[in-house]
Amino acid sequence: MEMRFKITRFAPGVDEKPYYKEYGLEAEPGERILDCLNRIKWEQDGTLGFRASCGHGVCGSDGMRINGRCALACQKLVKEYEGEEVVIEPLPSFKVLKDLVVDLDPFFEKVRLMKPYLIADGAPPARERLQAPEESKKVDVAIRCILCACCMGSCPVVNENEQFLGPAPLVWAFRFIFDSRDSRSLERLKAVDYPDGAHACANYFECTRSCPKEISVTKYINRIKREIQMTLNEGEK
Ligand code: SF4
Ligand code: FES
Repeated sequence: MEMRFKITRFAPGVDEKPYYKEYGLEAEPGERILDCLNRIKWEQDGTLGFRASCGHGVCGSDGMRINGRCALACQKLVKEYEGEEVVIEPLPSFKVLKDLVVDLDPFFEKVRLMKPYLIADGAPPARERLQAPEESKKVDVAIRCILCACCMGSCPVVNENEQFLGPAPLVWAFRFIFDSRDSRSLERLKAVDYPDGAHACANYFECTRSCPKEISVTKYINRIKREIQMTLNEGEK
């Protein structure tokens, strides 16, 4: 089918501001939007900038806004946009480095603040740190996060307040706060208990809607807020 694309272009130092450039190509319904971007780059315009790597929803590098929704270009099929012009823009709220490529460093820095690794006090066991299946179930969906930042780009609070920790860092906080093998739950809860931390989430649910790994992001943030209430605030009474 004949596809029409309108793609944000911006080269710092060359363009004063971003603009849209139109492209057209013949594509199969089962092709992915990422395939179309690749073909535009390889066959029509080698200057188009975007990130991608695995092509299979694993690496998280091709998060972008496609017809108003943040998504992975490798997970969106041409047939979903039949008859539409496909408008592709960089993830909102991020500084654009070139075209669809955004600066993810501040995002990764916020995730790093969450100490996204297991901290287990005491001597390590001879083999692995075992976990009961019911304990592992509490965090096994959060483990799916691939750091694509689609949730950050979709969040209206992130868009207004760059100090907000944001949905993905809170998913990583959740993942370890509720991991039965981790020894620092209290410290981790305190790290997100501030106005621009977990409390800034206003329950728009846009993060949950956009997450390509179907993580219940908003629900997890609310679970963290409840835990703060029960563990930190109740403890002070
Ligand atoms: Fe991407 Fe979902 Fe992780 Fe957000 S929570 S970074 S949308 S995988
Ligand atoms: Fe790796 Fe899309 S290219 S997630």
